Amino acid sequence: MNIIIFGPPGAGKGTQSDNLVKDFNLIKVSTGDLLRDEIKKGSLLGKNIEKIIDKGKFVPDKIINDLIEIILSKKDYLNRLIFDGFPRNLNQVKSFEYLLKTYNQKISCVFTLNVDKKNILKRILGRQICSQCGLIFNIYFKPANKTNHNCDSKYLIRRSDDNEKTIADRYATYVKETFPILKYYQKQNLLHEINGMNEIERIYKEICSIMGSLET
Ligand code: AP5
Ligand code: MG
Repeated sequence: MNIIIFGPPGAGKGTQSDNLVKDFNLIKVSTGDLLRDEIKKGSLLGKNIEKIIDKGKFVPDKIINDLIEIILSKKDYLNRLIFDGFPRNLNQVKSFEYLLKTYNQKISCVFTLNVDKKNILKRILGRQICSQCGLIFNIYFKPANKTNHNCDSKYLIRRSDDNEKTIADRYATYVKETFPILKYYQKQNLLHEINGMNEIERIYKEICSIMGSLET
């Protein structure tokens, strides 16, 4: 099945997607990660993307839709995708619907993680990402240790957009552009609202129980 996880910056989209990837044999499609991969390449496109991300704005839809089409067209990935942070505006929803039809795929379920602004700030400011394996940790809530992380601690880094100013801008962009599209999925009876303020494991249990009740 294909699913979407929505939520404001720092809500736990990546964290919950990584759990689902492990247990349900799915593939995570994080547009944020794909864009950061382009930045790492050091290309001109990557440099332009970096400037936009560091302002907390959205990268142009055309770039995003092209990335999504590459993934949807892969036969191995058919109906095995978790969209983390995509679509983010109405225009992306429209293109996504078109691409889903083109590649004969559908969305089975949409989750949205509700978290307040104060918690978002603490979560993002405490986030560490492993530049080797991509796992997400948190100095307050989920510290990396020998049991949950195999790489050397020197690889733990912070994202360049994880500062107070950019977090505020990302949040404002989310409220203006992304929050309104939840209605679209609600009307289709696909939306499940999750209390994202709970602990990681509790949220994951709730998501799994909803996934278990879905027809495949
Ligand atoms: P993206 O990378 O997707 O950033 P985001 O949406 O701001 O979300 P985050 O990745 O910051 O948070 P998350 O919800 O994944 O939380 P996480 O699991 O890491 O996008 C970055 C940028 O790219 C955008 O701003 C935009 O510029 C651009 N972009 C991306 N997609 C785009 C698109 N479709 N169109 C246009 N532009 C696009 O958790 C956060 C921290 O909290 C971690 O440390 C984690 O360990 C911890 N944590 C998680 N859950 C809990 C919990 N329940 N309790 C306590 N701590 C928790
Ligand atoms: Mg993320």
